[in-house]
Amino acid sequence: MSAIKVAILGFGTVGEGVYRTIQSHSEELTAVLGKKVEVAAVLIKNKQKERAINEDVLVTTDFSEILELPQLDIVVEAIVDKEPTFTFLKKAIERGCHIITANKEMFAHHGKELFELAEENHVSVGFEATVAGGIPVIQTLRQLLKINRVQQVQGILNGTSNFILTEMRVKKQSFAESLLSAQVNGYAEADPTNDVEGYDAFYKTMILSRIAFGEEPNWQDVEREGITSITIKLIEAAEKIGLRFKHIASLSRAGGQIKASVKPVLVGSEHPFYHVEGVENAVNVFSDIVGRITLQGPGAGMYPTASAVIEDLVYVCQSKPAKSSVTPSPTAISEPENPQGKE
Ligand code: HSE
Repeated sequence: MSAIKVAILGFGTVGEGVYRTIQSHSEELTAVLGKKVEVAAVLIKNKQKERAINEDVLVTTDFSEILELPQLDIVVEAIVDKEPTFTFLKKAIERGCHIITANKEMFAHHGKELFELAEENHVSVGFEATVAGGIPVIQTLRQLLKINRVQQVQGILNGTSNFILTEMRVKKQSFAESLLSAQVNGYAEADPTNDVEGYDAFYKTMILSRIAFGEEPNWQDVEREGITSITIKLIEAAEKIGLRFKHIASLSRAGGQIKASVKPVLVGSEHPFYHVEGVENAVNVFSDIVGRITLQGPGAGMYPTASAVIEDLVYVCQSKPAKSSVTPSPTAISEPENPQGKE
């Protein structure tokens, strides 16, 4: 019985976490999938760097060498930036591989095109790791949307921002020191501007919108603000009156219109996000049958993100890609129903 062959693009925090987890959870993966999962190749940037990768794995800086492997089933992408990532993933799909991405920025911009191409090529797309780190929010929404109608989604979606706000409040550490700790812990993006100015949370919100509502608001209409204006003084003044700053993404649909914002908000102790601290993320989903569900868990870091990728690995292996003519939305690709059809 041949193994499932995986290539990992990028060997930073996420790529290495995925590599290690495939080794450490090999038995569980084999038990669930009925086949061993093997990493066949890793795409790196710098050949000089020491890496703990087995000798039988192709380690290369040239993506075309990976595409030429005699067997390749899944491409896991853990790089940054929109390009050349998008191009690599299109080529992987055309080669007949399932793809899994952790790249929020690329996926928010190009997710629709990747889904369309995947549908044409009868492969699946996994993107659980693009939103809320280790929290299985995409899977949960997919399950919920089979019957429920989602009305509103709120989330703390950037672990770095929540970590910084917590460090500033609890340890009275400056913004710069707190950001440095987030970087040392492997939570922040390569360019932390994306975290602290709200872009990362914005991309995640657009991905969630597509899942929850089958469409996105106009990006230009979304209020986006980061946490750089929040000082220790403001945090202390808020605390004196029982409030905390949380960086919250909000999405709602009313009268056929989607409204979204990503910004710092003051919450009181009665709010489900008040006690969401450190690198934790949380997502509130309001839907018509069940009411409010709150999901909470680690929003960034090596193993939480690897967990989401590994869950996707199982998902893409087990899903039956749709061959329907339904306009693809992220949930339509491998689910029987487009949630938009419920309107
Ligand atoms: N930089 C991101 C965050 C990583 O802090 O949330 C996880 O998407």
